[in-house]
Parts: sequence; structure tokens; C-alpha cells
Amino acid sequence: TFVVTEACIRCKYTDCVDVCPVDAFREGVNFLVIDPDDCIDCALCVPECPVGAIFAQEDVPGDQRAFTPLNAELARVWRPITRKKAALPDADEWAMIDDKRSELQR
Ligand code: SF4
Ligand code: F3S
Repeated sequence: TFVVTEACIRCKYTDCVDVCPVDAFREGVNFLVIDPDDCIDCALCVPECPVGAIFAQEDVPGDQRAFTPLNAELARVWRPITRKKAALPDADEWAMIDDKRSELQR
């Protein structure tokens, strides 16, 4: 499966959801996740993300490993998102901030 990591938090550009052939993305208030039960590993979403938040599970950086189980957990409770929409306010400012895990709203 593919995994959305920390860089997405408070940005949520949503370019990724438009290209997913199986509608695997699930939406929270300020973050998206990928449902590992639906993702077919096509990798189309990876280059779409302006902040490089999406990785193949085997390529998730060491300090981001918690996001693999977190995507699976939140995918069970969040609703599908299948169309691009406006990024969050201040997305471009938050895109430059690396340490924002505590900002994640469940
Ligand atoms: Fe969707 Fe493909 Fe990205 Fe998986 S890798 S979430 S199937 S676009
Ligand atoms: Fe998040 Fe990147 Fe998609 S910021 S919503 S993973 S395009």
C-alpha cells in the first residue's frame, strides 16, 4: 500500500485524490489517509502531491513509520474523498514546516 505522511498535515492540497483509480483516499479535517484495503499500488498519486507526502509503504522514511498504521486506523473511520478541492487556508505556510504531527486533528 501507499501511505500519506506528516507533510500533508494542515496542507491537504488534495491533488492526489483526483488521480486515484480506486478512490482509496479518506478525508479528515486537516489530513488525508489512504485505505490500505483499497490501494492497488499504482503510484499515480505520488508525483501529484506538492509536498511529497506520499510514499510506498516500504519507502516510508524512518521517522514517519508511525503513519503506516495511522493511515490504516483512520481509514476505518474517515469518509472517502474522490475530487480535488481547495487546499486548506495557510497550506503554503504549513508546507514549509516539518514538525507538525501534533497539529493532526482526528
Ligand atoms: Fe490510489 Fe494508486 Fe495512490 Fe494507491 S498508489 S492511493 S491506488 S493513486
Ligand atoms: Fe495531502 Fe499531498 Fe494529497 S498534501 S491531500 S497528500 S496532494
